[in-house]
Amino acid sequence: MIRLLRLLCCLCSLCFFLLTMAPAHAAESIFQYNQHLGRGINLGNALDAPKESEWGVTLQADYFRLIKEAGFDHVRLPVRWETHCAGTAPYTIDPAFFERVDWAIAEARRNQLMIVVNMHHHEAFEKDPDGQKERFLAMWRQIAERYREAPPEVAFEIYNEPSKNIDAQKWNDFFGEALKIVRRTNHDRCVVVGPVQWNSIDQLPSLELPADPQLLVTVHYYQPFHFTHQGASWAGPESTKWLGTKWTGSPTEIAAIAADFAKAAAWGEAHHRPIYLGEFGAFSKADIDSRALWTAAVSRQAAARGFSSAYWEFCSGFGAYDPEAKEWRKPLLDALLRRK
Ligand code: BGC
Repeated sequence: MIRLLRLLCCLCSLCFFLLTMAPAHAAESIFQYNQHLGRGINLGNALDAPKESEWGVTLQADYFRLIKEAGFDHVRLPVRWETHCAGTAPYTIDPAFFERVDWAIAEARRNQLMIVVNMHHHEAFEKDPDGQKERFLAMWRQIAERYREAPPEVAFEIYNEPSKNIDAQKWNDFFGEALKIVRRTNHDRCVVVGPVQWNSIDQLPSLELPADPQLLVTVHYYQPFHFTHQGASWAGPESTKWLGTKWTGSPTEIAAIAADFAKAAAWGEAHHRPIYLGEFGAFSKADIDSRALWTAAVSRQAAARGFSSAYWEFCSGFGAYDPEAKEWRKPLLDALLRRK
């Protein structure tokens, strides 16, 4: 009898252990998953630089804690795998770099943040998609294999802002192939995918997706571009002429965002896909009042339509956090986290 009781006790504690260990988001729909993703922030200019620190950002454990404590639900981790991956078959990804990404994922999870791990700035792929296809797919084979046991709070994003020579037809084809590879090892992990031309809302109609229930569709938003990218060197020489552009939150300005987001929401409804606004932000050359107004408007318009979102970015040129003063830029943080 005592033995039987002991056995029952053991079974009960095992069940309890398994239940408490069960991943929080395992069985939910992609729409519920998107709600949990909620509001996030991009850890930009760190692992998406050719080498970490080259663009002035070195990830620190403290960043994840600060982001969690501020009230965000997730981080998006842009990763430039290309500069850490062999140029010839089998295109091995540098183990030390993988360990760095492992560490970032672990820090996110330790702080109960969900995390979207992407592939960012594969420049050779954008220039010569066909020539790089094998390498691109080999990278995803390795990434998917490495994180096959990761909890469901870790999502994969196949490619940031497909553009240049990656046209819609190529992208639909390449994405489909990459997804098949990911699905061999990650049967129901959330996979994020966005349309061509820098994940533009207007390109959503060109996105053709396989019948996979765990896809989250992403778009990026930087309109009006001459406001958000004023003085941004990578936006071309005329960006200096845009300096001084303000954004005041006038009814016309708000209506323009509403109209763009209504298009994304309508596409999402028609295709039964949730929407993730994976990047939005205004560069620090714009004045802080305009930035805060724009950021609040975009963030609220996204939330009102049930989109999850991630601000571009944490502590660099668009930074919501000032790493030198070691404090949040309050107007931006308030704009991002004010509910409603
Ligand atoms: C790019 C960044 C850029 C940002 C805003 C991102 O997708 O990766 O380098 O700063 O968009 O232009």
